[in-house]
Amino acid sequence: MSLSIEHFLDIDDLSAAELETVLDRAEAMKSGADDAQLPQQTLGMLFEKPSTRTRISFETGMTKLGGHAIFMGPEDIQLGHGEPLKDTARAASRYVDGIMARLFAHEDIETIAEYSEVPVINGLTDDAHPCQTLADLLTIRERFDEDVSVAWVGDGNNVGQSFVIGCALAGIELTVATPPDYGMDDDVLDRAAEIGNPPAVTTDPTEAIEGVDVVYTDVWVSMGQEDRREEKLAAFEGFQLNETLLAGSDAKVMHCLPAHRGEEITDAVVESDRAIVWDQAENRLHAQNALLVELLG
Ligand code: CP
Ligand code: NVA
Repeated sequence: MSLSIEHFLDIDDLSAAELETVLDRAEAMKSGADDAQLPQQTLGMLFEKPSTRTRISFETGMTKLGGHAIFMGPEDIQLGHGEPLKDTARAASRYVDGIMARLFAHEDIETIAEYSEVPVINGLTDDAHPCQTLADLLTIRERFDEDVSVAWVGDGNNVGQSFVIGCALAGIELTVATPPDYGMDDDVLDRAAEIGNPPAVTTDPTEAIEGVDVVYTDVWVSMGQEDRREEKLAAFEGFQLNETLLAGSDAKVMHCLPAHRGEEITDAVVESDRAIVWDQAENRLHAQNALLVELLG
């Protein structure tokens, strides 16, 4: 089965069956299935924000697939000097076979998709990070059976929002614990409910992690929120993944990285055997390569 979608802007662009197809292919590619499947194809990569994992995994991913990737920071191209996004999308898509973009406003990736003649992949916006969710679901599936239970503890941010919807699609039992006023958008919870598997929602991290197999967190201050740092650090007191909160739990710990050690998670937890964060990071490569083959192949 190949994908019915034109672009991958959030995880629920995929149906549950399509999500499974991508994860199956990712698993096969990780196990060594032939991966030179996009010879001479080029992925244009547009970054408004910094990145380690997304940039490296897409760039090496395209090399492994037999193609090539072009990095474009805003200052490198005319976009940073006044050329409208829609013109950038129209021109770039006359050259490349796919566009991956990491942007601030989610509407901007919708604009690129509207004007692009080739598939567009969301490499993170303020609202969503679906490529991370693909890697996260692959990581969970590698270690647990379908009865797995997961808690998201922390900010209702881009990574969390795509993860909520991804868990709904994958049939994973999820509890979300955020401080009051820092929860997931209503629209995200509605979409999870429409899929038929909404998360349980609480403001109590201790309650959320009770008996779960996996606890997932992300930074409290996302890229672009630096001026809200003081306010957010105060609001998230008690939500840190540390040895006290996790005492009595044998849950594995996930984090999309980069981690802000001493804020949402301690150094000891990141360095402990609980942490499966490096598997998550590696799985970006396999999950995205599977997506690229399904979308561009
Ligand atoms: N998790 C993630 O997207 O990492 P980068 O910001 O390093 O790309
Ligand atoms: N929520 C974080 C994720 C980084 C990969 C951010 O947007 O900065």
